[in-house]
Amino acid sequence: MLRYFFIAFLLAVVAILALAGPRDSKFFSAKSARPPIEIFPDMDHQPKFQPQHPSGFFADGRAGRQPVDGTVPLGYGLHGSFLQAGAKNGAFEPAGFANQPDYFNTGKFGDSYGDGFPLEVSSKFVARGQERFNINCAVCHGKAGLGNGVAGQYGVAAIANLVDDRIRAMPDGQLFSTITNGKNTMGAYGPQIAIEDRWAIVAYLRALQKSQGVKLAELPEAQQKELQSKQ
Ligand code: HEC
Repeated sequence: MLRYFFIAFLLAVVAILALAGPRDSKFFSAKSARPPIEIFPDMDHQPKFQPQHPSGFFADGRAGRQPVDGTVPLGYGLHGSFLQAGAKNGAFEPAGFANQPDYFNTGKFGDSYGDGFPLEVSSKFVARGQERFNINCAVCHGKAGLGNGVAGQYGVAAIANLVDDRIRAMPDGQLFSTITNGKNTMGAYGPQIAIEDRWAIVAYLRALQKSQGVKLAELPEAQQKELQSKQ
């Protein structure tokens, strides 16, 4: 009984091969001008729009669509909207190619971190940094940067205190790079935060550090006297 089954099976295989034809002439040398019967079409044929082809579906007759307002082309950086001249109604100007190796994009000169700001530091700039810090960083690092944000109560461990001496001593470029790429358990914020905004956050971080743990000798003389008179 089994023997008949095998014979029938073999015949079926031969019949399918003969009918369907060789799909790949690497294995079967027989060639035919007719297309093979496709038992498994493997998504070879798909209804789709080709680039630069016409289409009856859209009113303008073109298959290619214009990008939506505000689209950032792949490989371009985000412009901080607060610095954009004349940006309105979602009109958007990309900041140019991202991932450039310069200081503005990386916080580095070659392999070493740089210090200083590649943008003008104004009170508006620092205020923007404060707003962005409170949105993006305070949840972990706390509004004062002490590492006591609410996420600590929900399992984020060993959050860095941003006003301690180790981080005060870091060059601005290293702080920028930490925001951009993350550090150990801290994720990267480069993809979410525009380049100018990352620098603004660094500027605000410096303001936070200056606002805490100041040594008496670092204060202006008038304030030193005022504090001493209170003691
Ligand atoms: C989800 C929580 C979380 C958020 C949000 C977060 N951080 Fe962190 N951050 C951490 C943790 C945790 C560490 C400690 C990482 C480690 O183990 O070195 C850290 C470390 C740091 C350090 C020290 C890096 C070093 O070299 O030691 C800096 C600076 C820093 N964060 C800045 C920021 C800034 C600025 C933001 C906002 C753009 C931010 N972080 C957002 C969790 C967070």
